[in-house]
Amino acid sequence: MTTSPKPDPSPRAAGGLVVAVDGPSSSGKSTVGAEAARRLRYRFCDTGLLYRAVAWLALERGIAPADVPALLPLAAEVVLVADARGRLRHVEADGRDVTHEVRGADVDRAVSDYSKVPELRAALVPRQRDLAGEGGIIMAGRDIGTVILPDADVKIYLSASAEERARRRAVQRGTVDETEADRILDELRRRDSIDSSRETAPLRIASDAVVIRTDGNSFEQTVGAVVQAIRAAEGAARVR
Ligand code: DC
Repeated sequence: MTTSPKPDPSPRAAGGLVVAVDGPSSSGKSTVGAEAARRLRYRFCDTGLLYRAVAWLALERGIAPADVPALLPLAAEVVLVADARGRLRHVEADGRDVTHEVRGADVDRAVSDYSKVPELRAALVPRQRDLAGEGGIIMAGRDIGTVILPDADVKIYLSASAEERARRRAVQRGTVDETEADRILDELRRRDSIDSSRETAPLRIASDAVVIRTDGNSFEQTVGAVVQAIRAAEGAARVR
């Protein structure tokens, strides 16, 4: 197992539900999911960090997505790290915390091309499933409700238009330049297209997912909607 030991998991974590949160790039899965997990005292895992860290290592070492034999061993070098609340929001590679590096523009550009490699995806499946085993977890990604945890107790799909997502990203980066804002939108559309059209585990809305449309929502409203969906499922699970 290549995740760090879980420090002080929340008292409710072990009894809680398994929650899948999927959605496109910059739909807020990670920030919304982590905040919902904090409120519910669930663990949280941002699975995009695994793909990002592998892509970062591959770029560092000059390994192309097509070079599968060289790419595959990188998966074992990537370690998710839990914060004090048991949220897996940091990643180590090459023996150091690279959470900041993996969110850089180079990785943004390249990560979809690495994450569509079927062999790499297959190598990462058991690691993600192992994490969900004891329940009390919100796991965010692209294929969590469809492929990784098809039996999740709650499936949430966060949707937002490309324009809204690009606007949020531009705000995050402090960008005021219109050309740069257009570039962010183009890049998001390009990644959406690769993530949704790849052959293995494309981004799809699971048939049993609750779709939360976040255009025009505040962060608080979206977190509230996610927490409400999970609490409703917890209530239903108690009366079953
Ligand atoms: O959510 P993110 O932008 O950090 O994800 C980075 C990349 O990883 C993105 O191109 C899609 C891919 N990814 C994936 O294919 N499956 C996941 N479960 C999570 C992320």
